[in-house]
This record gives sequence, structure tokens and C-alpha cells, in this order.
Amino acid sequence: MPKQLDSSNIPKHIAIIMDGNGRWAKAKGQDRLYGHLSGVDSVRETLKAAVELGVKFLTLYAFSAENWGRPQQEVEGLMELLVSSIHGELSTMHENGVRLTTIGEVNKLPGACVESLNEAISETANNTNINLVLALNYSSREEILFATRAIAEQVQGNVLNIEEISMDSFENALYTKGIPDPELVIRTSGEHRISNFLLWQLAYAELHFTPVFWPEFRREHLIEAIYDYQRRERRFGKTSEQVISGT
Ligand code: FPP
Repeated sequence: MPKQLDSSNIPKHIAIIMDGNGRWAKAKGQDRLYGHLSGVDSVRETLKAAVELGVKFLTLYAFSAENWGRPQQEVEGLMELLVSSIHGELSTMHENGVRLTTIGEVNKLPGACVESLNEAISETANNTNINLVLALNYSSREEILFATRAIAEQVQGNVLNIEEISMDSFENALYTKGIPDPELVIRTSGEHRISNFLLWQLAYAELHFTPVFWPEFRREHLIEAIYDYQRRERRFGKTSEQVISGT
């Protein structure tokens, strides 16, 4: 454990908005896909560090529902990169006890992506070191709408009474069913937005923004984010005095 970190207070779930691949590549005179390709190295390094630090869930915003609007060549390149990265990393992930899952409208991705994801998900299903949650074709507002429709259907079908609609029943209708809320969210590249990411789940999350572009994000930046998190006082609506006295 790095000495600046308190091992008893490592966030169980860290979510990352990986941003800045395009700008990083452009600054190097390269095309945007080169930035995404380099971003895969950051994914690998961050995942490795997260396992080492004892993080149990790492959610990565890899492709938003809005990203379909990017130039076709970039979208196709990202999809190919997803397939090749999963094939290339699967055995290492498996050896390191990584369990892969996804959130988002994954079935609407190209067939090759769905196939490689399904293969990796079933192969790693029994791993327990860390859960790598890839947000793919993900929109938080859509997720909330899907959950609302699912709940409405249960009410219509007399499976659920209106009075039984609760935080728990709602959370069970989200993609993130069974996944604890992230305590820490990191966004790279100096942007300060949530961008339709886990809007329900981030209600009490601590937000850490770093100017580092995603392709340059490494273990030390993850440690810095956790260090920042550990210095915050999480009050969940209570007063500082209540938090300190545990009342
Ligand atoms: C944001 O940078 C990055 C993305 C939209 C894609 C992230 C994808 C990867 C890192 C590669 C595939 C991932 C996995 C999990 C194997 P941007 O393009 O928005 O950068 P910009 O804001 O500088 O344009």
C-alpha cells in the first residue's frame, strides 16, 4: 500500500470518465484513434493498480450513447479497438481475477463487439479480485427511463404496488443492479462535467478532476485521486460534528 494512503479507507467502487484521448493525440500531431489506442494502455495500468489497491469495482465510461454521433471512422475504430483489446487482454484479465461486466445498451453494439464481450463475461464470471464494469452505449437518462418503464410494468401487472416503489426496487431495475454506488468519480482532461454518467448512482460520490489526459493516466494519478478522496469528509447530509461523533 502506498504510504500516503489509508488502507482501511480505499473506495470500494471507483468510476472513471476517461477523457482527452483526442486532444492528447492532436497535440502530438496524431489522429484521434491513436489517442484511443494509447488509452487502452491507461485502462490496463489503472486496472492493475486498482486490483493492487483493493478496489472492488472499477467502472469505465468507454462509449456513451451520444458517442454514435462522432465521425463514422472514429466510431468504427473504437468498436474494433474494443474487440481487439478484449481479445488481447482476456487471458491477463482472467489471470488477475478480473470479472468483466457491462452497463448500457450493449446488445445494440456491432455483432463482433457483443460476441467478444459475451465471451469475456462468461469466461471471467467466477473471478473475484475486481469487477471491471464497462459502460458501453451508455446513457444514464435512458437507464433511468428503462427502470421507470420496468417498474411501471410491474405495477401494471400487479406484481408491485405503488407504495412498494422504493429506493431498493428502483435500484434493482437499473443496469447497475447489485453494484454498490461509486464513492469516487474521476474525470480526466480538465473537464468538469458528469456527461450523462451514473446520475442516480453518483448522488453522494466524491468528484475528482485531473488535468491529465486519459492516455497519460497511470497508477500515480489513481493514488492521487484516492488520496484526495481520503481527505474529504463525507457527511451524507449530516453536520461535521455528527460525522465526528458518529451520531
Ligand atoms: C474520451 O476521449 C474517450 C472515449 C470516448 C473512448 C474511450 C475508449 C478507450 C480508452 C479505448 C477502449 C476502451 C476499453 C475499455 C478497452 P475523447 O475522444 O472524448 O477526447 P477529447 O475530449 O480530447 O476529444
